[in-house]
Amino acid sequence: MEPQKILITWWLGYIWSHTAALFAQSGYEVVLLDNLSNTHKDQVLSSLKILTWKDLTFYEGDVRDYDFLDKVFEQEKPDGVIHFAAKKAVWESCHDPFLYYDNNINGTITLLEIMDKYQVKNLIFSSSATVYDAEKNVPPFTETDRLNTTNPYWTTKLVMEFLLKDMSQHKGFNVICLRYFNPIWAHHSWLLGENPKGIPTNLVPYLLKVAKKEIEKITIFWDNYPTPDGTCIRDYIHIEDLAQAHLQSYDYLLKKVEKEQITEEGNLAPAFEIFNIWTGNGKSVKEMLNIAETVVWEEINNEIGERRDGDVAVSVANPIKAKQILWWEPQKSIVEAVEDAWNFYSANKGA
Ligand code: UD1
Repeated sequence: MEPQKILITWWLGYIWSHTAALFAQSGYEVVLLDNLSNTHKDQVLSSLKILTWKDLTFYEGDVRDYDFLDKVFEQEKPDGVIHFAAKKAVWESCHDPFLYYDNNINGTITLLEIMDKYQVKNLIFSSSATVYDAEKNVPPFTETDRLNTTNPYWTTKLVMEFLLKDMSQHKGFNVICLRYFNPIWAHHSWLLGENPKGIPTNLVPYLLKVAKKEIEKITIFWDNYPTPDGTCIRDYIHIEDLAQAHLQSYDYLLKKVEKEQITEEGNLAPAFEIFNIWTGNGKSVKEMLNIAETVVWEEINNEIGERRDGDVAVSVANPIKAKQILWWEPQKSIVEAVEDAWNFYSANKGA
C-alpha cells in the first residue's frame, strides 16, 4: 500500500512540528504549511530533518489564501489533513475579534472548500478545552458536557467544531476533533520546542524565562480561587503525548472509514468524533512553580497579582473515551515535560 500523505497546517515550531516528526517517523509522507507568523522556520526544519532523516516538503502561505491552497492541493494531492487552527490568545481576540474570526474560522472554511474540491475528506482538528462551560460543568469535563464561550477566541473554536460537524453530515467529511488545553512543548531530543517570538503568555515558558533571568519575575494571576492553594488548576500535558494522540486518531479514522457502513442512499456514512486528550490530573499554578523550581534547581522569582481576564478556576477533563476507543494514554509525567522544556530552552536560548 502507498504511504498516506498528510498535510499539516499552520504554526511551525509548536505542536504541529512534533506531530509532523511523529507522522514522518511512522511512515507517513508529510507536507507542511505555515504562514510563519510565530515561528523560527529554519531551526524547526533542520530539527525535523535530524529527527526524521527526511526533507519534509514545506509551503509558506496562509490557509485563508484560496489560490495558494489550491496550488498546494493540486501539487501534493494529500490523503488527509491535520489542522492546527490558528491564533489562541484570549486577550488578543477580545482586542481584535475580526482577526480571530478571519484567521480561525475563515481559514478553516477555505481549507474545507479546497479539501472538498479535491475530495480529501479525512481531517483531524485541533480543538480546545475552551469549548467547555467551565462555570457550569463539574470537572473533570467529559465530551458530552455543556459547551459555552465567553470571548471571541473560544467562540471560534466552538464555531469550528459545529462547522466541522455540519460538513461531516452534509459533505461527507470524516472528522476527529481533539480537545486539549495546556501542552508543554518540548521534545525529549531537545530539538523541537516552544520558542515563541517575543514574551510568552503561557505559564511554563514564562516560568523558564524567569528562571533564566530574562524576565525579572512571574506574576501569579491571583491566589483566591476556590482551589486548595487558591491558584488556578490546569491539566498540563507533554507535547509528545499530544502528538501521539493525533497519530492514533488518524489511524483510527482510517480504520473506521474503511469499515464504515454504506448508508441507504449508497454513500459512505461519514465519521465525526470528539475526544478529550488530557491526563485527567490537574496541577495548580503554585504546584507548577514548585515543579519548575525543582527542575531548574533554584527559586523562581514570583509575586501574587490580580486575576487575569478570562481565567477559570479549574480546567481538567476526563480522557477515558480516548483510552477506550483510541487506546491512547499519556506516557509522560508533568515533571518530564517541564524537564524537557527546560533542556530545550537551555539548548536553544536565543535561537
Ligand atoms: C491560555 C488561554 C487559552 C488558550 C491556552 C493555549 C487565557 C485566559 N487562556 O490557557 O485560551 O487556549 O492558553 O495554551 O488566555 N498564569 C499565571 N501567570 C502567568 C501565566 C499564566 O499565573 O504569567 C496562570 C494562568 O492564570 C492559568 C495558568 O497559569 O491559571 C495557565 O496559564 P496559560 O499557560 O496561559 O494557559 P491557560 O490560561 O490555561
